[in-house]
Amino acid sequence: MAGTGVFSPGRAQIAARTLRRDRWWLQPLITVVVLLSFSVYATIRAFSNTAYVQEKSHLLSPFYSPCLTDKCKPGSADFGTIGNWWPVAPAVLVLVVPLGFRFTCYYYRKAYYRSFWQSPPACAVAEPHAKYTGETRFPLIGQNVHRYFFYLGLGLNVILTWDAIHSFKQEAGLAHAHGGAGWGHMGLGSLILTANACLLWAYSMSCHSCRHAMGGRLNHFSKHPIRYWAWTQVSKLNTRHMQIAWVSLFGVALTDLYVSLVASGHFADPRFF
Ligand code: FES
Repeated sequence: MAGTGVFSPGRAQIAARTLRRDRWWLQPLITVVVLLSFSVYATIRAFSNTAYVQEKSHLLSPFYSPCLTDKCKPGSADFGTIGNWWPVAPAVLVLVVPLGFRFTCYYYRKAYYRSFWQSPPACAVAEPHAKYTGETRFPLIGQNVHRYFFYLGLGLNVILTWDAIHSFKQEAGLAHAHGGAGWGHMGLGSLILTANACLLWAYSMSCHSCRHAMGGRLNHFSKHPIRYWAWTQVSKLNTRHMQIAWVSLFGVALTDLYVSLVASGHFADPRFF
């Protein structure tokens, strides 16, 4: 059978895998290191089941929000629970959505196809695979579920936005030191949770599925001015999707780290007012 891709009979037959002399391998290498580091950190934190909520300042880690089992610590289950039957840490129940959303993201696919599967690792660098079926067959055809994760992710964004708003509330126990209980207080944690929610909204709004939801399948933009306007705005964000994907990934990890430091007593959340 005739070869395909770079092995096609019509292609120039070059014995070397690539003629590039620059450090083309650097970007895939960085992608591998960062994604593996995030995966290891997220796995450890998700299964640790500790230091994910600081009740007094209403700080809840995004890895554990919403916390959905009866084992959730006080202050972390504002949206109700599903009982006690879930056998492992509650974070695992929730992380399916953001991980599924990121794993099937069009940008991350490009990143990890290149860096992990070397398919291909860079422009003008031959891939080691002789056969290419892309996303037309199992299992990669499953990547098409991305649009459903997009909608589930929107629900999660609403919940994380609620967590951020909730962090501007102060418990009665801190009232004396900070001028009264109730709403209208702000600490460093409130700002971090708010920034994290904003970044996650930006990530969702810049998603290719969002762009399609706004302006896809339209024959005449002129007949749908509102959808055309929304599509135009999303398209502007979409050009920055790669950057937003990385920044929001770091944002989630750093927010979780901050909450864990505060909740474990290693750092006192500074309250501004
Ligand atoms: Fe990246 Fe949808 S394409 S989140």
